[in-house]
Amino acid sequence: MAGTTPEDEREDAPYDATPYLPARGGLPAHRRAAAECRGCPLHADATGTVYGRGEAGARMMLVGEQPGDQEDREGVPFVGPAGRLLFRALAEAGIDEADLYVTNAVKHFKFTREGTGKRRIHKAPNLRETLACRPWLLAELRLIHPELIVTLGATAGRALLGPDFRVGADRGVPRPLPGAGDGTRVVATVHPSAVLRARRREEMYAGLVADLRTAAEAL
Ligand code: URA
Repeated sequence: MAGTTPEDEREDAPYDATPYLPARGGLPAHRRAAAECRGCPLHADATGTVYGRGEAGARMMLVGEQPGDQEDREGVPFVGPAGRLLFRALAEAGIDEADLYVTNAVKHFKFTREGTGKRRIHKAPNLRETLACRPWLLAELRLIHPELIVTLGATAGRALLGPDFRVGADRGVPRPLPGAGDGTRVVATVHPSAVLRARRREEMYAGLVADLRTAAEAL
């Protein structure tokens, strides 16, 4: 997984959020419990848990990687530069924000500090951290029960479609959510941060909009 270092993978005891999940309750109960999650070490340096946003009746769920710097400070997913690009692309694809539930595969911001330590630089979560946080994502799936899920980038794709997922090969095609057996489908696409970093940004943005249109048509 991108961002994984040998140090990250050396320890073999799994991290796991499961003990922190509430035994019952809806989104508000889960949101409250997630704020106390200590299932992996990422909570230690983050400002707080960034839980999903949207209503339980949403037909479409978007899954990103992890909150960024701004999301960590505001406690809401996709409110920074990647979010602004994402919501512009969603509007171009004809997807109404009101129909969406938006969340991340990992619910704490992972970062390193640069130079004098003021700037926090995003660091991709590793497999242990992603798997540790997966119970929160699966609980959101159960509570929202979306008809269609859009995964943004590799981490979200691997969290829901398995370790062999590759954005380049697997994007833009509606497919059944593995293990769901209830007609829930997934469309994978690129992460909006990758679009922001791309040399051929216009081309990559157009690809993101096209995949989102495919998702909208699959609903
Ligand atoms: N990138 C993500 O994957 N999620 C966010 O919430 C913000 C940036």
